Amino acid sequence: MKTTRILLAGTTICLMAAFPAFSKEYRIAVGDGAGGTQEALGKAFVEALEQESGGEMTGKLFVNGQLGDEQDTVTAAATGTLDFSILAINNITPFSPSVGTLTLPYVILSQEDAEKVTQGEVGQQMVEQTIEDAGVRIIGWGYSGFRVLTNSKKPISTVADLQGLVVRVPKNEIMIETYKSWGINPTPMAWGETFAALQQKVVDGQDNPYMTVNAMKFYEVQKYITNLRYIFSIEPLIISEALFESLDEEQQQQVLAAGQAATQASAAFLREQESKIRDELVARGMEITEPADDEKEFIDLATSTVWPKFYDQIGGVEVLNNVLTSLGRDPV
Ligand code: MLT
Repeated sequence: MKTTRILLAGTTICLMAAFPAFSKEYRIAVGDGAGGTQEALGKAFVEALEQESGGEMTGKLFVNGQLGDEQDTVTAAATGTLDFSILAINNITPFSPSVGTLTLPYVILSQEDAEKVTQGEVGQQMVEQTIEDAGVRIIGWGYSGFRVLTNSKKPISTVADLQGLVVRVPKNEIMIETYKSWGINPTPMAWGETFAALQQKVVDGQDNPYMTVNAMKFYEVQKYITNLRYIFSIEPLIISEALFESLDEEQQQQVLAAGQAATQASAAFLREQESKIRDELVARGMEITEPADDEKEFIDLATSTVWPKFYDQIGGVEVLNNVLTSLGRDPV
């Protein structure tokens, strides 16, 4: 009996040492539903944050846009009413145009490209620019894969097939212009309204990665997938810069280290999960079509007309060239 009491007391002391009495819990907005890249990034971040801070800091994820639409969470974080948000990069671009370089069509051509750009010097420049422009700091990068086109009407493999289709796009000028270069006028719409719009047939289709199509259960309302590769979706984890500045130096380092750990976890998650998720979508009845002629027509139209339109907005053609050369490609 005495031995048991001593053991219990010892265990309590160990637990008290491992978990401090006070743990600050931050709110983390997640735009997508559970089971996707964003939630995986968030879970990895919370786990690493608890470890780095010895339990003094933690986070709670609110999936499916519960804390607001993705673009609204940028404003909320900038004004300090939200702590963290995980969202697609295209929904930061309206607040920090240079980040748009990563949503220019056919700039990022693989997961390796995405990791190289975001984790290298270019990524660091974007972090600094986003703090200045938008009042939020990117502390981690999620990788979601290429945004494939889904629709409820027919298989699409050519630009001609696309004509007449009503496609939802994020409120992002670059993506709107990309569809215009393919001959259609897309419908800009907030992310949170997209499922209902597809369900009610206000729009016929949309584009997002396989991981997101699955996390959002779009297979319930969409049949056809075109395996486009025009944008590789990067999903940053942002912190309110006001919150970051209010932390002491050690806490800031803990937050940054947790963000880096989450970035690595996200890259591994996509490598492990993407083809599995694609197969699941097919098993649920979706049909995948490859773009004709290795997507040549889509690529030629988008790169020749969309890129030059945005040189000024992204901060000059040199910003794009910086990205291209960092990937070993020729500058324009
Ligand atoms: C969008 O289409 O608005 C976003 O890419 C959705 C997302 O965050 O996954």
